Amino acid sequence: MNILIINGPNLNLLGKREPEIYGTLTFDDVFSDLTARFSEHNFHYVQSNHEGTIIDTLHEHGFTIDGIVLNAGAYTHTSIAIADAIRSITSPVIEVHISNVFRREEYRHHSTISGACMGTIVGFGFDSYRLAIEALIERNKNK
Ligand code: DQA
Repeated sequence: MNILIINGPNLNLLGKREPEIYGTLTFDDVFSDLTARFSEHNFHYVQSNHEGTIIDTLHEHGFTIDGIVLNAGAYTHTSIAIADAIRSITSPVIEVHISNVFRREEYRHHSTISGACMGTIVGFGFDSYRLAIEALIERNKNK
């Protein structure tokens, strides 16, 4: 399978950013683990702090790639435009969050994008990405 991982705003600072919430690994560390674990699959990674770039990335790959894992960061809670982009493409999208957003501030309890996604995985740390990839692979087998 060809799988695209998209990380949104501030996720370039993983490893440095609020380590008590997001841990001390960088996403490069996590990405290396994922590509080694799922070595029979091809991965493409995009991180952007800009809503429009995330939308452009969804448009660019969202009709050809087999699956997308999306951590939209804080845009999760605000972006109707990203939700519309997800609804406009044909590749399945799984929403992920590293932290358990439901145990955090109230404004993180609502996601504007969940209803547009195939499913959501929340709160398992970096394992949220692995679980999302497994879900995409399983679903692809049963297609
Ligand atoms: C996050 C949760 C969001 O509320 C936050 O804005 C992030 C990261 C997570 O992965 O836990 O940037 O998406």
